[in-house]
Amino acid sequence: MENKEKIVEYLLEAGEFEWEIAPGKVVTAWGFNKQLPGPIIKADRGDKLIIKFKNNLKEPTVIHWHGIRLPASMDGTDAVQKPVAPGEEFEYRFIVPDAGTFWYHSHANETAQMERGMYGALIVNDKNDPITDDEKVLMIDDMKLTSDNEFKKPGWFFARWLERHDGREGETLLINGKENSEININAGQIERWRIINSSSARYFLLHLDGKEFQIISTDGGLIESPRTVTEVLITPAERYDIAVGPFNEGEEFSFESLPYNRMASIKPKRQTFATVKVGKQKTSIASIPSKLSEIKPLALQNAEVTRKIKFSLGPSLKDGVNFLINNDTHINDKPARVGELQIWEVSNTSLMDHPFHLHGFFFQVIDINGQPPEYLAWKDTINLPPRSKVKIAWIPDNRPGTWMYHCHILEHHEAGMMAHFDVINNDQPEPENISHHKHHHHH
Ligand code: C2O
Ligand code: CU
Ligand code: CU
Repeated sequence: MENKEKIVEYLLEAGEFEWEIAPGKVVTAWGFNKQLPGPIIKADRGDKLIIKFKNNLKEPTVIHWHGIRLPASMDGTDAVQKPVAPGEEFEYRFIVPDAGTFWYHSHANETAQMERGMYGALIVNDKNDPITDDEKVLMIDDMKLTSDNEFKKPGWFFARWLERHDGREGETLLINGKENSEININAGQIERWRIINSSSARYFLLHLDGKEFQIISTDGGLIESPRTVTEVLITPAERYDIAVGPFNEGEEFSFESLPYNRMASIKPKRQTFATVKVGKQKTSIASIPSKLSEIKPLALQNAEVTRKIKFSLGPSLKDGVNFLINNDTHINDKPARVGELQIWEVSNTSLMDHPFHLHGFFFQVIDINGQPPEYLAWKDTINLPPRSKVKIAWIPDNRPGTWMYHCHILEHHEAGMMAHFDVINNDQPEPENISHHKHHHHH
């Protein structure tokens, strides 16, 4: 127990600005403090963050603190707060109870606002973190631009259908808002790279030219022991922290995505996002212990399911295709009670992938298509391949209010693949007839 919480203050101002993604290549971005990504917010576990936010955009917005276990009223969705109108301010205040790699992003008109850059990282440190020589935050994104560097608007019906169906992917590949950037590391060093997929729809299968690296942390913090791999799939909104190195002086290799077929119309490709360049030799103080943390399992693999959630696609007269949860769009799901173990079976009957995201709470995946997961981890986003079924376990701690879950492909979320639900206290009666009552849409 810390005896006093430290207060950490930030000012965030949303606005429009010119941003150079490559020499001479300038886009009109929307973002925070005229930076893309917005400033890295840093705190220690247990600190209280006060974020004074001002909206200088020409349209309303809200900020969502993706992965932070905060009170519902601070979750930054239109279900819990009035969107911040142009010229208005709002103060977000919350404690950061967990260490890890989190992020913040617009939760209003996201398909436009996030595409233009309304996101940033939120890093929570802890004294139990493994010691590395340095760390980097790497935010992955892409933009779909015209040859004049304007954000491309799909014009005719088929292009609109395609963007809605696939999610928006573009050919301008960014790491921390820059195209073709260099990632520098000294020889002999071990660094922690915190990787955040902030794109609308891109599936990033991280690969470092075949070099081994260690996964040490997922969405909700450190895993139990490092896992040595040569690739890891990072779907929209997921975070993976990896320990990389040591490398040899003069080495050069790409930070790239291998092709991953998410069954969209866009053909998967192998693409380089940045080049890693290894500099002069330096001595290392890094130590990555074989035991990083302890994660107590919440439930057994065969635990009884308390709720079923089905992602599917259906025909729509207006848009060609609808993105459905339990055969409906923008649903209100039944409440969950504080303290009651939740075992949710989330299935995907469609023929494409969807990353499922739960706001405000971490879950453990306990079953994937009948198999146990490879390792225990705290997650807030999990990918559902076509025709798959996962079971997740989580416990609502005492933070009643309205929360949501949705597909984190922004176009699918907008098209209806989302739900609101309440976490209620034990003394609150369960509201009746909630399941087919529609919540207001946010277009
Ligand atoms: Cu990062 Cu509602 O999402
Ligand atoms: Cu979220
Ligand atoms: Cu989806």
